[in-house]
Amino acid sequence: MIGCIGLSEEASSPSKKRVYAIGYFLDSAHHGKGITTAALRLLIREVWRPIFADRAGDVIIYGSTFGSNISSQRVLEKAGIRHVGTLHKAHTCSLLKGGDTVDIWVGILDPERDRCTDVKT
Ligand SMILES: CC(C)(COP(=O)(O)OP(=O)(O)OC[C@H]1O[C@@H](n2cnc3c(N)ncnc32)[C@H](O)[C@@H]1OP(=O)(O)O)[C@@H](O)C(=O)NCCC(=O)NCCS
Repeated sequence: MIGCIGLSEEASSPSKKRVYAIGYFLDSAHHGKGITTAALRLLIREVWRPIFADRAGDVIIYGSTFGSNISSQRVLEKAGIRHVGTLHKAHTCSLLKGGDTVDIWVGILDPERDRCTDVKT
């Protein structure tokens, strides 16, 4: 295995909608080859959109990254995730950031965009 990718449902959300977070990781030996972008596009097109097609209005699928993680932001954007805002100096319990505050980039899968593979960025 060189990486993983998936959706996890948020256990508690202030929204009445069901909220799912995108997550992925790829072994550093394989970075920069377009693998994660291809995997995310494939999942959105072939798996997630068909599953959520009849309840698109009830579901939010989002991706978030540290503000400094430009490659992850590029992956999300190229797969059709639209940047909706950045949380500045957010508190995090991430071990990577030692519990410090950090900027968090947030994007959502645009429900109006049903052909993410056509997005040219
Ligand atoms: C983030 C991660 C998943 C990216 O995977 P990947 O397969 O290397 O990504 P891709 O090759 O599909 O795309 C990377 C894009 O970022 C761009 N990029 C990388 N570093 C960049 C930088 N410093 N500035 C601008 N763009 C950058 C690449 O050029 C590429 O975009 P392009 O195709 O338009 O040129 C991988 O680096 C990883 O697993 N990192 C560790 C874990 C992690 O950060 N997970 C995500 C947590 S939110």
